[in-house]
Amino acid sequence: MNQDELKRLVGTAALDYVQPDSIIGVGTGSTVNCFIEALAHSGIRVEAAVSSSEATTRLLEDAGILVVDLNQTGGLDVYIDGADEFDPHRRLIKGGGGALTREKIIAAASRQFICIADTTKQVKVLGAFPLPVEVIPLARSLVARRMVALGGQPEWREGFTTDNGNWILDVHNMDLVDPVRTEETINNLAGVVTCGLFALRPADLLLIATENGIKQL
Ligand code: A5P
Repeated sequence: MNQDELKRLVGTAALDYVQPDSIIGVGTGSTVNCFIEALAHSGIRVEAAVSSSEATTRLLEDAGILVVDLNQTGGLDVYIDGADEFDPHRRLIKGGGGALTREKIIAAASRQFICIADTTKQVKVLGAFPLPVEVIPLARSLVARRMVALGGQPEWREGFTTDNGNWILDVHNMDLVDPVRTEETINNLAGVVTCGLFALRPADLLLIATENGIKQL
C-alpha cells in the first residue's frame, strides 16, 4: 500500500468513532480529508462539525455537513485529527498544515481525541519533523532568538499566514526528549500563540494504518 492508500484506510477506520447525530471536532490535513470523504459517503448523519481550519470548513460544507462555532457547542465527545509525528506515548507534533492553534483548542475541548496516522509518522522520540510555532507577527524575530537560545534552528514559513492572521516558525533540531516541559516553555514565551507539541494533551487513541491493517495505540 502506498501512503495515500494508508491515509484512506485510517480515514475510513475513524468512522467507527462517529456517533450518529453528534457534533464532532474535525482536524486538518490530507489524512483528515480522507476521513471527511469517507464520512460523506458513509450514510452516517452528524448533527454538525466544529472545524479546525478554513480548508476543512470548505470540505465539510462541500460534503453537506453543517459547520458550527465551538462557542455554540460546549464540550465535544470526539475530535478526529492527523499528526506529523507521534511517539509511543501518543504525544504528537502537529502544525505542518499551519492549523495547530485551532487544533489544540478543539483537542482541549474534546473528551476523546482520536489521532489518525500511518506508520511513516511513527518515531521513538519526537523532533525529526521541524516543530511549528505560531507567533504574533510583531514577535517573529524575538521568538526566533528565544528558539535559538533553546537549541533550535527556526525557519520562518515565509509567505504563509495562519487562519488567525499570524506567522509560523518551523524550528529544526529541537531536543524534545521532555516534550511536556518543552511545550510549557515555548508556550510561555511572549509572542508565541502556541507550539505544535501535543504533549500536555496527547491523543487518547491513535489509529495507525499499517500494511497489515489498523493498529491501535
Ligand atoms: C495541520 O496543521 C496538521 O496538524 C496536520 O494534522 C498534520 O500536518 C497532518 O497532516 P497530513 O494528514 O496531511 O499528514
